[in-house]
Amino acid sequence: MYIPVKLSENIFYAGVNDRRTALFENLMPLDKGVAYNSYLINDNLITLIDTVEVGQIDKFLKKIDAVLKGRKIDRLVINHMEPDHAGSVKIIAKLYPDIRLIGNKKTLEMINGYFGITNNLIEVKEGETLNTGHHTLQFFMTPMVHWPEAMVTYVQEEKILFSADAFGSFGTLDGGIFDDEMEFATFEDEMRRYYSNIAGKYGSPVQKALEKLSGLDIKMIASTHGPILRKHIPEVLNLYNRWSRYEAGEGVVIAYASMYGNTEEMAETVARKLAEEGVKAIRMYDVSKTHFSYIISDIFRYRSVILGSPTYNNELHPNMEALVTKLLHTGIKNRYIGVFGSCTWAGAAVKKLNEFASAINWEQVGIPVEEKQALKEEKYLACRELALAMAKRLKNC
Ligand code: FEO
Repeated sequence: MYIPVKLSENIFYAGVNDRRTALFENLMPLDKGVAYNSYLINDNLITLIDTVEVGQIDKFLKKIDAVLKGRKIDRLVINHMEPDHAGSVKIIAKLYPDIRLIGNKKTLEMINGYFGITNNLIEVKEGETLNTGHHTLQFFMTPMVHWPEAMVTYVQEEKILFSADAFGSFGTLDGGIFDDEMEFATFEDEMRRYYSNIAGKYGSPVQKALEKLSGLDIKMIASTHGPILRKHIPEVLNLYNRWSRYEAGEGVVIAYASMYGNTEEMAETVARKLAEEGVKAIRMYDVSKTHFSYIISDIFRYRSVILGSPTYNNELHPNMEALVTKLLHTGIKNRYIGVFGSCTWAGAAVKKLNEFASAINWEQVGIPVEEKQALKEEKYLACRELALAMAKRLKNC
């Protein structure tokens, strides 16, 4: 038995939790799992909004059936085609052969491309509405949040925004479905990790989406991941505004690679001096231990970044190379950067990190430090100078 969870009198949550998948997009760790949220409007035309990842289909169908008790779904709104949401579309279309699939022009092309479905489709355009009986669904295009076909669906009567990936979060819904049923603050880190790694590259499209949605009276935001918002909407909109403008707070992320501990010792030296200078928020990561998605999430949070790497085959350490490559792809703006590194016979890492700082167009702070073999007094003091320069820059920003 399952007692359906209501968003309103006739709108139901039909999402599922996934605590088994290790990597989202086969890339990002899901230490706290992930929720795939779907919603059901029980009206004259029974309408499903998005589906779930296909491996969760049994749990999903059980939730649908608990609401519909055998009645058929008439329409499926597809706000986003990424398979964590659209993965069950083909099965739903087979189970309900008369169902009409609703999406925009790009969605319909992807429905054909992914599933070979070319009939029973309804194309919607910016601002258009469809009526289900007692509910009016209005569609707004939100391209690149997070794919080009992404859109959101606003139910006018209930003032509920079905926002696809936007305002979503990693992490399962452990009993609490709504933000006022849980310790919502515990979701902020996973919400930022989700945003920064999924949509972080698309700050400008996110800004456009926020501007477009600012004209709506929104009482509830129902994303395809994470808690349904009905209490913390202003805070989350504010976070999205800050993140998409690449605004950040006072703090330093130190990320380093180290084979034998020498570069790590430089990182420790930098961190200690930062603390002596009054920097409270210092986040230090060994890139060989911590997945880049967590480091990037903190770089979205804090203004300063200090990177350190040993020279490895005349290049950066491969795990630092992976981080800086991902940062370049993400295109985070307006950060301060300091760099350091070590080598045994010929240094290349600091040169490569300087090139990265220039390529990503961050403001370089302090004098780069490169040590040969073990950390000695001169470079130890140089690491402290680097930290001092960064602390001063942070205070004056
Ligand atoms: Fe949650 Fe872009 O899919």
